[in-house]
Amino acid sequence: MGAPRTAPILVASNRGPVSYGLGEDGSLTAKRGGGGLVSGLSAIGSDSGAVWVCAALGEGDREAARRAGTSHLNPGDTGGQQVRMLDIAPDVFAAAYNGIANSVLWFIHHLLYQTPVEPVFDAEFAEQWAAYETYNAAFADALAQEAVAEAVVLVQDYHLALVPAMLRERRPDLRIGHFSHTPWAPPDYYRLLPDQVAADVLRGILGGDRAAFLTERWATAFADCCAAVLGAEIVRDGDGDGGEEGSGAATAVRFEGRETRLGVHGLGADAGFLRERSRQADVDERLTSLRAQIGPGRKSIVRVDRTELSKNIVRGLLAYRRLLETRPEWRERVVHVAFAYPSRQDLAVYRDYTERVRRIAEEINAEYGTEGWTPVALHVKDDFARSLAAYRLADVALVNPIRDGMNLVAKEVPVVSERGCALVLSREAGAYAELGEDALVVNPYDVEATAQALHEALRMSDGERADRTKRLAAAATALPPQAWFLAQLEAL
Ligand code: G6P
Repeated sequence: MGAPRTAPILVASNRGPVSYGLGEDGSLTAKRGGGGLVSGLSAIGSDSGAVWVCAALGEGDREAARRAGTSHLNPGDTGGQQVRMLDIAPDVFAAAYNGIANSVLWFIHHLLYQTPVEPVFDAEFAEQWAAYETYNAAFADALAQEAVAEAVVLVQDYHLALVPAMLRERRPDLRIGHFSHTPWAPPDYYRLLPDQVAADVLRGILGGDRAAFLTERWATAFADCCAAVLGAEIVRDGDGDGGEEGSGAATAVRFEGRETRLGVHGLGADAGFLRERSRQADVDERLTSLRAQIGPGRKSIVRVDRTELSKNIVRGLLAYRRLLETRPEWRERVVHVAFAYPSRQDLAVYRDYTERVRRIAEEINAEYGTEGWTPVALHVKDDFARSLAAYRLADVALVNPIRDGMNLVAKEVPVVSERGCALVLSREAGAYAELGEDALVVNPYDVEATAQALHEALRMSDGERADRTKRLAAAATALPPQAWFLAQLEAL
């Protein structure tokens, strides 16, 4: 049994390009998967011969995966892409995805723990960790089955940190890369993890030929963790043949007789797709209704996020409240259009956070709203067309994450914007490395400074806004998804 070995290129990620809804009559409806990872990887193209291995996330997915067995999903559902969806036992999946990936590894890399009380590494954690190993092994098995001799395998993100080493054991002939779509924690914070787990995650990724990141900063942090936790040797730019040490960026990690090269690929926005998509009729319709909601002559501050702790939506709202408090001239003249789409609602901290966002938005509206003006327009229903409409009309975009691997919203807004849009950007977003010069840069924890940046953004002259937007758009599209993907293949 098992799929034949046919794939010259394989991609593996937890979330795949498609997710399924299950009707009461047992019918399945396919929908495009969400999030930055899927947007980037969708550029693979169906004619590359690549096979994408992903996990079944919900009931609909599980049903589709069961029906397909070890075959690929119906290409009609996936835009022609060959997709193998793994039906992993629900309890194993929940422990690996909710327990380890999204509650532990995500929290570590985004520095989200409130450390006097969190994290707690107890017996439940140990069980979840065992499930994470099982779940990673299921991916390694499927990839080993699908890959032709010497195939290239691109493993994605913190869900699958153990896969490179597991796959090398099963198939030493393959060329294996790992790509992190998140930040990487600095060593002192990373070492909150139990020692064995901290070491296993690094060893897992070092099992590949290459480990790649969205920015230099995250690649350096990874190398620093390898040195601090494993005692691995870091190879740096400028290291001489005579053994003298270079002082430049880390380029590889040497550990137990193997070398894993490091790479940086700053995923950019897909200008062609965005410009085309944002001019379609459904976006026009939403533009009209958003304009009506904002009201004539008013400016808009737009944000678009998953309702995610690392996105810092609450401090964004507090900064807006502070703006209205300290700069009364903006009252009735601006609307904060906040799209906060539900995410990871199986986790109580995410549900609580979603609730806080809703409450603070209501408080601001109660405090400052007037008969003809609602200061915050909060939308929680995921709607890509409406996000694009907001990008078109935004005067200011607020992107203030506590920490973010890249943040594609910061890159998409300048591409789609019609009249130019001022960008208020956290220095802790990966996108800061490329967009920092033309954005209004903030420390995401500093509510007061964020309020001041919003004020400056609103006041920016039309000419300056347009000039900055042009430069931001050029920087944001330097490495579009297709080129980003090809660069990784070539490097392997
Ligand atoms: C981030 C992660 C991705 C993930 C996405 C959506 O961008 O890096 O791996 O797919 O969030 O999160 P979710 O848990 O819904 O897949």
